[in-house]
Amino acid sequence: MNLRTKRIRGMQDVLPSESKKWQTIEKVMTEEASLHGFKLIRTPVLEHTELFERSVGDTSDVVEKEMYTFKDKGDRSVTLRPEGTAGTLRAVLENGLHNLPMPLKLMYKSSCYRYEKPQTGRYREFFQFGLEIFGSPSASADAELIILAKSILERLQIQNISLEINSIGCKNCRKKYSEAIINYFKSKIDSLCPTCQNRLEKNPLRILDCKNKVCSEICENAPIITNYICEECSEHFETLQEYLKSQNIEFKINPKIVRGLDYYSKTVFEFVCDITENDKLTICGGGRYDGLSEILGGPQLCAIGLGFGLERILNIMETQKIMFPKDDSPKVYIASIGENAKKKAFELCGILRTAAIFAEMDIVDRNIKSQMKYADKIGAEYVLVIGDDEIAENRAILNNMKTGKESKISINEDFLNDFSGVDMEISSFRR
Ligand code: HAM
Repeated sequence: MNLRTKRIRGMQDVLPSESKKWQTIEKVMTEEASLHGFKLIRTPVLEHTELFERSVGDTSDVVEKEMYTFKDKGDRSVTLRPEGTAGTLRAVLENGLHNLPMPLKLMYKSSCYRYEKPQTGRYREFFQFGLEIFGSPSASADAELIILAKSILERLQIQNISLEINSIGCKNCRKKYSEAIINYFKSKIDSLCPTCQNRLEKNPLRILDCKNKVCSEICENAPIITNYICEECSEHFETLQEYLKSQNIEFKINPKIVRGLDYYSKTVFEFVCDITENDKLTICGGGRYDGLSEILGGPQLCAIGLGFGLERILNIMETQKIMFPKDDSPKVYIASIGENAKKKAFELCGILRTAAIFAEMDIVDRNIKSQMKYADKIGAEYVLVIGDDEIAENRAILNNMKTGKESKISINEDFLNDFSGVDMEISSFRR
């Protein structure tokens, strides 16, 4: 086929054969979050560019290199959201949700856009399931969020996951720490990669996150942030660890986690999955961002949140051969012979669907033999065959496709009752 246009690189179609998997993951996440009091929020995919420049940070890779930014027809600079936190906080402040009783717990499933080099687990359009808790300065909020994330990953049965946590302190601690690492890296500047040489001036913490081999080696002996955090931040981090230990949540302190977005303070964390012996993939990342509301012009509003990468979770579940529920197949297929029978099939399908029973009928004018084959292919549990004789008699034969058992049932007023009498599952559902 010589299609005129194809999908954009780094973006994916979710086909019907995959959609049940997506629905399963989203259902688990939404159910678990609801049990913890999270309510759904939906925000626009487009925001003013300034929102991300101010929140994600104009020296972050995301803002510097990866955003889909363009001018709209009114000559305003707008950006496809690269992540969900900034838009969620903007919506909270703009709609006055920060005046509600706290904590405010919000969840979202959002498409995000980053112009990155596409590779396994890295796309230009990807979906995040995000959770944000507003209005709690307490480490118990950090613990609740992490425990919730863990329970989601457990319910999805994903194996080989580890939790890594760190504290990057508050604004004041980071100032002292930045000075220390600038001093440390200054003498090694010539060995750093060009990006990190640039980062040393603009955003020195990000050097710790560099994947370049030489930079990583240099980072091995760099000062550790937890040695520079103030008493309050240190206490917060200790308390979080106590909560996690009390709930038997295993974790590792990884002083190298600084996260790629500039709004974080105090707690940061990642859930990492071992893909191969040497390869790890972050499937969930998050942290506290107590200062972001003020940066956006709002009041002081403590917050902590996380984002799951849904494609990464799905890919890992497939690699780990975790079973997903199968697609539902129709309870009944109504096969018809002739025009009158087809009209009757419409009526009966309508009755079944109104009673929340999955029913299908012929809408592509197949002959009866092909209809039977099709019913078998789509895995219909029962087939009801209607022709002129059945209409005249007001009764038709319902075939159980698994057992071969045939039952004659009414196709008039008593249709649903008769059908429920045959199918135990439906009769119990109706009662
Ligand atoms: P993030 O670490 O940038 O954090 O993204 C969260 C997750 O999204 C990552 O752990 C990863 O699984 C997935 N992800 C990121 N980039 C891509 C990509 N190009 N392709 C596929 N998956 C990707 C945030 O975005 C923060 N907003 C999380 C947060 C919420 N922090 C506080 N609240």
